[in-house]
Amino acid sequence: MPSGMSFTQKQRALIELSNRADGCIDCQLHQERSSVVFGQGTAEARVLVVGEAPGKNEDLQGIPFVGRSGKLLRQAFSAVGLSEQFVYITNVVKCRPPDNRNPRPPELAACRYYLDRQLELIDPEIILSLGNFALRYFLGESHKISTARGQSYQFDKFKLIPTYHPSYLLYSHNPEINSRFQADLRLAVEHLEERSAR
Ligand code: URA
Repeated sequence: MPSGMSFTQKQRALIELSNRADGCIDCQLHQERSSVVFGQGTAEARVLVVGEAPGKNEDLQGIPFVGRSGKLLRQAFSAVGLSEQFVYITNVVKCRPPDNRNPRPPELAACRYYLDRQLELIDPEIILSLGNFALRYFLGESHKISTARGQSYQFDKFKLIPTYHPSYLLYSHNPEINSRFQADLRLAVEHLEERSAR
């Protein structure tokens, strides 16, 4: 927890940050958004899940991962016994890129403030990053999800577990990719269990 902040203070600070994001015009993505998709979960989450950017459904509803890849993600959490009450879900970019194109460097840079601050306030035990954009946010541009996944990394004081983006699972239809994804989620659950047992 950021030094000296109670849960209520952290929760309030997250709401203030979300209100600030609602008015953000720091990059061009604000021009076409219906809503800012700030995040879902509470300030006491143990796992911060970080995707890429909102899609069409997320933009309309203002909630991350409500489309097909979100359904897959939530089913996978349930399959490995990861309760959603432990999870805060967000993205590296909080506004939808038009036509679901990749976020561009100035957009990633403009949005960095929000994810950095979410990380600081939530202070999770684990960061679960989904796909290349989230992986590179934490570990840098030279990393690729295909070789980085399957293990954990230290990012500042956090345990980072990178895995595939769920939309890749939908697109690849490959059972091997599915089982690697499940194995990565189990790694996160094992880590939480170890910490609880201490
Ligand atoms: N894909 C993402 O990366 N994030 C969402 O919120 C939805 C789809």
